[in-house]
Amino acid sequence: MREELLTPVAQPMEAAEEAGLRPRRLAEFVGQQALKDKLEILLEAARQRGQAADHVLLAGPPGLGKTSLAGIIAAEMGVAFRVTSGPALERAGDLAAILTNLDEGDVLFIDEVHRLSRTVEEVLYPAMEDFQLDIVIGKGPSARSIRLDLPRFTLVGATTRTGRITGPLRDRFGFVARVDYYAPADLEAILGRAAEILGVRLEPAGGAEIAARARGTPRIAIRLLKRVRDFAEVRGTGVVTRDAAFEGLALYDVDALGLDKLDRAILDTVCRRFSGGPVGLSTLAISVGEEEETVEYVYEPFLLQLGLLKRTPKGRVATPAAFAHIGVPVPERSTGLFD
Ligand SMILES: Nc1ncnc2c1ncn2[C@@H]1O[C@H](COP(=O)(O)OP(=O)(O)O)[C@@H](O)[C@H]1O
Ligand SMILES: [Mg+2]
Repeated sequence: MREELLTPVAQPMEAAEEAGLRPRRLAEFVGQQALKDKLEILLEAARQRGQAADHVLLAGPPGLGKTSLAGIIAAEMGVAFRVTSGPALERAGDLAAILTNLDEGDVLFIDEVHRLSRTVEEVLYPAMEDFQLDIVIGKGPSARSIRLDLPRFTLVGATTRTGRITGPLRDRFGFVARVDYYAPADLEAILGRAAEILGVRLEPAGGAEIAARARGTPRIAIRLLKRVRDFAEVRGTGVVTRDAAFEGLALYDVDALGLDKLDRAILDTVCRRFSGGPVGLSTLAISVGEEEETVEYVYEPFLLQLGLLKRTPKGRVATPAAFAHIGVPVPERSTGLFD
C-alpha cells in the first residue's frame, strides 16, 4: 500500500487547507534566516527604486515553503500573484497568453520550472531579460515575427531539481535561493502557528515530539500534527501531549528519526539485500517499488542529510549509522566505502 501520510507532495484534498496555512508575509515565515535577510534586501531595494524585483529562483525539496515564499514576494511588493507550472505550459502560446496579461510589477510564479518544454523556455528568455515577447504570426513563407513589449514583471521559479534547470534559464534569475531542511526548533514554531490556525490543542512537548520526526519538513510536520490530533481525539483527551504524539506516530509507522516505511525499505534494500551497496538508483527504485525520480528527489535527500546514505559514482552506499538504525550488523566483508 502506498504510504500517503509522509509523502511530502500535497494531496489534492489537503491543498485548500494548506493554502490557508501558508504564511503571507516575510515576518510570518519561520526560519531560513539567511535566505530571508537576502530576500528582504532584494525586495526593499526594488521598492525604493519603484521597480519590479529581480527574478528569483527557489530551489529545494518538496514541502519546505517555496510556494509560500513566492506568494510572500508578491505580498511584500504589493502586487498581483499569478500562478502556473512547468507542465501546465504546453505550448509557447500558453506562456505568451499569460505574459501579455500581466500588469506592471506582477509576480508570475512558475512551479516546477525545470519541467518547461524547450520551446516554452525559449519564449521565456527574452521575456525575462528584455521584457519582450517574440511572436510568429502566420505559417510558411508568409510567416512574420513581431516583437511586443511586456510589462516589467518578476518571475519566481520553484524547482526540486536545480540540476535539471538549463544554464541559460538559471543565468536569467537575479537571485537563486536554496531552501533547506528546518531545525526542530523552527518546526516547533511552525507547528505552534499551525495548531493555532487549525484549532488544535498542542502542548509544547507534543510539538517537540512531532517536530523531531518531521524530516525537517514543514508540510510533513503539519500533516503529522493532524494525524496525531485525530489520534488524541479518538483515543485520548483531544490534547496533543507528548504521549499522544508518541503513540500516534508509532501507530502511523513513523520511527524515531521520522523515517517512514519507504525510507526504511530503502535502507533495508541497501543494507540487507546489497550488503551496504553500492546499489544503482534504478535497482534501488525497482526494489522498493517506487519511481526513480521519487526515490532520488523526495526520499534520498533526507537520508543523505541524516548521514544514513551516501551517493558514490558506483551507486548508493549505506553508512554504519544506517545499519545501526535498522538493526542489522555491518557485514564482515568491508567494502572499503565507509572510510
Ligand atoms: N517557513 C515556514 N513557516 C511557516 N509555515 C511554513 C513554512 N514553510 C512551509 N510552511 C508550511 O508548509 C506547507 C508547505 O509549504 P509550501 O510553500 O507549499 O512548500 P513547497 O512549495 O516548497 O512544497 C504550507 O502549508 C506552509 O504553511
Ligand atoms: Mg509548492
